[in-house]
Amino acid sequence: MAVLDVHQRELRNLRLSVTDRCNLRCAYCMPEEEYTWLARDQILDFEELALLVDAFVLAGVDKVRLTGGEPLVRRDLDVLVEMLARKPELRDLALTTNGILLAGLAQRLKRAGLHRVTVSLDTLHPERFLALTRRDEHAAVLAGLEAARSAGFTHTKIDSVVLRGTNEDELAALVEHGKRVDAEVRFIEYMDVGGATKWSMDRVVPRAEILERLSAEYGAITPLHEDGSAPAERFLLADGTVFGIIASTSAPFCGRCDRSRVTADGQWFLCLYARLGIDLRGRLRAGATREELAAGIERVWTGRGDRGAEERLVHHQRGALAPREELATNPHLEMHTRGG
Ligand code: GTP
Ligand code: 5AD
Ligand code: SF4
Repeated sequence: MAVLDVHQRELRNLRLSVTDRCNLRCAYCMPEEEYTWLARDQILDFEELALLVDAFVLAGVDKVRLTGGEPLVRRDLDVLVEMLARKPELRDLALTTNGILLAGLAQRLKRAGLHRVTVSLDTLHPERFLALTRRDEHAAVLAGLEAARSAGFTHTKIDSVVLRGTNEDELAALVEHGKRVDAEVRFIEYMDVGGATKWSMDRVVPRAEILERLSAEYGAITPLHEDGSAPAERFLLADGTVFGIIASTSAPFCGRCDRSRVTADGQWFLCLYARLGIDLRGRLRAGATREELAAGIERVWTGRGDRGAEERLVHHQRGALAPREELATNPHLEMHTRGG
């Protein structure tokens, strides 16, 4: 029986960030020139991360997603994957990556027991990729997606953040690319999360417009109306292709949220928009057992009441979660620290 919070939401899904470092500088996530990084001696080692996962599993978690920053810049990540893949209670062990290093690692990750990967890819134009991410790595990402398939991964997804003026003319092209590489594309509304210091509502392409643009190309689109906690709503095209939309900005799904996130230095954030985290590293390094950690996790989850994205809907002067100055002194507010 899963632990329930005050809105009857189950604790099931953990996003575990393994590093705050990233080898891209996406405009919607890391637009600044300089960043304050987490202290190295505070980054949890694999034993500590595995013990934390054990505690979350004991508290009811059965889905773990490894995130970053870019998780594949963490050395020997396949060793951690192997440690986590041994836990039979985890029915889903996934990775969200920008794909740059995936071509070289896909086979090792598959062999280590990773179940599936999601690759971020916002454009099919190399020059747009360079402008958006400030790194000339488009070909590496495409190769990474191909390598995931060759390594035997199935249920691969492509995450595309849709930005007005950047890639809203590429939605059908991205769907077509997904078909070619056997991956399901999900379009993500630009969110006003920490780190998105250039966010403004006029750059958000809302779900309704995404659907309009796609039906102009493909004709009627059928919503699949699935229940469940996944942030993506899925839709069916007449040719049988399924795609998703994550409408976190225009139609938040807080009521169905079963997730929380742990940063690479062991701070536990319930909501993506939460200002304060809970320090699990301190307890871990003080020698807490997995049972003690799990009891604390359950106690905190039982009191959870936040609905961050929904609360932001009512802000008329909506802007990024935190100003640059605050991010510089509190990197835990950054999306690249929280891992989404
Ligand atoms: P699965 O459904 O298990 O495949 O994974 P996922 O969709 O949760 O993972 P992914 O990393 O692909 O996340 C997709 C997008 O949803 C990313 O842009 C995330 O930042 C965003 N997202 C993830 N968690 C939350 C959340 O709790 N709230 C909101 N509003 N957005 C989220
Ligand atoms: N809005 C929407 N999605 C974002 N991501 C990062 N920043 C934002 C933002 N401001 C997404 C990336 C990736 C995931 C880890 O988070 O595209 O899919
Ligand atoms: Fe881009 Fe992800 Fe790196 Fe942020 S963490 S800059 S979204 S690749």
